[in-house]
Amino acid sequence: MTLAAKKTPDGSRVTLHQLMLPEHANALGNVHGGLIMKMVDEAGAIAAMRHAQRQCVTIAIDSMTFDKPVHLGELLVCDAKVTYVGRTSVEVSVRVHAEHLITGATTHTNSAHLVYVALDEGGKPCEVPRLELVTEEDRRAWSEGELRQGERLTRRARARL
Ligand SMILES: CC(C)(COP(=O)(O)OP(=O)(O)OC[C@H]1O[C@@H](n2cnc3c(N)ncnc32)[C@H](O)[C@@H]1OP(=O)(O)O)[C@@H](O)C(=O)NCCC(=O)NCCS
Repeated sequence: MTLAAKKTPDGSRVTLHQLMLPEHANALGNVHGGLIMKMVDEAGAIAAMRHAQRQCVTIAIDSMTFDKPVHLGELLVCDAKVTYVGRTSVEVSVRVHAEHLITGATTHTNSAHLVYVALDEGGKPCEVPRLELVTEEDRRAWSEGELRQGERLTRRARARL
């Protein structure tokens, strides 16, 4: 297998769908936040692995928002796109919306930024392909991702003091 030297954000983009059923409810009768987080992490991991062509593990999840509740009977849609890469890490942004299947109405419900690390066969961090920025939106997402990653690494350094 040949590893690509670089890949575009659209080359690894992924969308996951799941119908929300009674088994996904919290005590209020809406969809449980933990289930949404699991789907967000799954979508992010698939995008990261598609980019890296490697097994990837989650190293950070931040900025997860719960803007609106998701209701039972709605289709939960997680759209994951690689925004920034370091040497061995891949940042993925995931946007979630709920779709009402009868009316077709969609509501933005959650957003998150997640970082994954690509691992080699020995379980050690390994290099990932560069990110080829094609659109203005890709370049804006990269700049924001670079800032966020800098802040994460500053927080990590402070926590280790
Ligand atoms: C992933 C793991 C092997 C990395 O080990 P490590 O000693 O932290 O490795 P490094 O310090 O070399 O960091 C690896 C990459 O992660 C980045 N990183 C480390 N800590 C980070 C943090 N808190 N936030 C964002 N990125 C971070 C580093 O910048 C580096 O990326 P770069 O090469 O692109 O600069 C180790 O942290 C681990 O096993 N974590 C548990 C993963 C897990 O179980 N996840 C849940 C299940 S998937």
